[in-house]
Amino acid sequence: MLLNVEDYRRLARRRLPRFVFEYIDGAAEDERCMQRNREAIDALSLLPQCLRDTTNVDASIEVFGQKWRQPFAVAPTGFNGLARPNGDVTIARAAATAGVPFVLSTASNARLEEVSQAGGTQWLQLYVMSDRSIAEQIVRRARLAHYSALVLTVDVPISGYRERDVRNGFRLPFRPTPGMILNLCRHPAWLLSMAMSGIPQFANLAEEAGAADSPQVQAALLTRAMDRSMVWESLAWLRKLWDGPILVKGLLHYADARKAMQHGADGIIVSNHGGRQLDAAPATIAVLPRIMEEAGDRMPVFIDSGFRRGSDVVKALALGAKAVFIGRPVVYGLAADGEAGVSGVLKLFADEVARTMTLIGASGVDELGPQFLLSANGSANMPESPQPAAPARIA
Ligand code: FNR
Repeated sequence: MLLNVEDYRRLARRRLPRFVFEYIDGAAEDERCMQRNREAIDALSLLPQCLRDTTNVDASIEVFGQKWRQPFAVAPTGFNGLARPNGDVTIARAAATAGVPFVLSTASNARLEEVSQAGGTQWLQLYVMSDRSIAEQIVRRARLAHYSALVLTVDVPISGYRERDVRNGFRLPFRPTPGMILNLCRHPAWLLSMAMSGIPQFANLAEEAGAADSPQVQAALLTRAMDRSMVWESLAWLRKLWDGPILVKGLLHYADARKAMQHGADGIIVSNHGGRQLDAAPATIAVLPRIMEEAGDRMPVFIDSGFRRGSDVVKALALGAKAVFIGRPVVYGLAADGEAGVSGVLKLFADEVARTMTLIGASGVDELGPQFLLSANGSANMPESPQPAAPARIA
């Protein structure tokens, strides 16, 4: 029975070769950041208020003039084609059916034009590589394909050190080790599906369909060649290419939230990449209150990293987040059962959000606030923000 995200995770582990599952499931170094995300969410509890009318609970929200049926959306994840052939399109379809946006990764295995056919609200996540003309052509294509927002990921100047991937010999370009081959033999269904569909390529990086560069070149682009000269002022460059909403994903410091506003971002996604980048980074929900003070009433603040239950989503909304992005759970759903699996995971979150709101006495997202929160030390209302004061030079 698939009753929760953990059930989907276990099924995904059974269905996937070890190196693929661990690529999805793993995080950087000692994986403390990933753990910290969970601990910080768990340290908050929800304080119900009784005898309030919850006959009609509506969790929908409006973002940039568009209605979302749920206060969550699908985070960008690269290499979805490893979990299942055609993974990007499959997730996009399930998200459209669920009425929630889907963010397509630059590192997708399907071309953005193809994914846009799936319908629904779609945003495009952008990695800027040192050859900026690649990003420029992706943005131009995204505009033509009617993506409605651009998400600039800023926490990957270099790739995080994911020790599970190193141990499994999973690196690009792909060269199977003997251990990997042995493990692959235990997953004939996955192997067959890959044999039939071909090894997933970073399809978005080629300007023309069918003109993909060699996987080696693409891997080099994605793993090593990020543009580390990108600075806040570079947002002006992006603004010239894109007149829709621009969101900055991957910031944790309240001073960065301020800079994002100053440089014309339309929203931010507070994220530590699910713990996959800087292992010493704080939990996102721990830094959210301070960021809300800085930016909350001036632009939408989104959050991701570690959200596994609808009640986790409600906690972030009570702290003022506009919505929550879901990463790994969606990919577990994809690996476990294709489109039905992704739909199943999104339905779990939707049911849990509605159930949680009903149980705490909130019939709409607008009613959620710190009055429903209790921190681990038992203090009601806003939990203390653990983020230290900014050093003078960046204050
Ligand atoms: C990611 N993430 C990510 N982010 C991004 O901006 N571009 C990308 O291509 C990817 N790729 C990617 C692959 C995989 C397998 C994972 C698990 C994650 C990060 C993602 O958008 C999001 O920030 C985290 O996944 C959120 O944490 P949870 O929900 O996975 O705990």
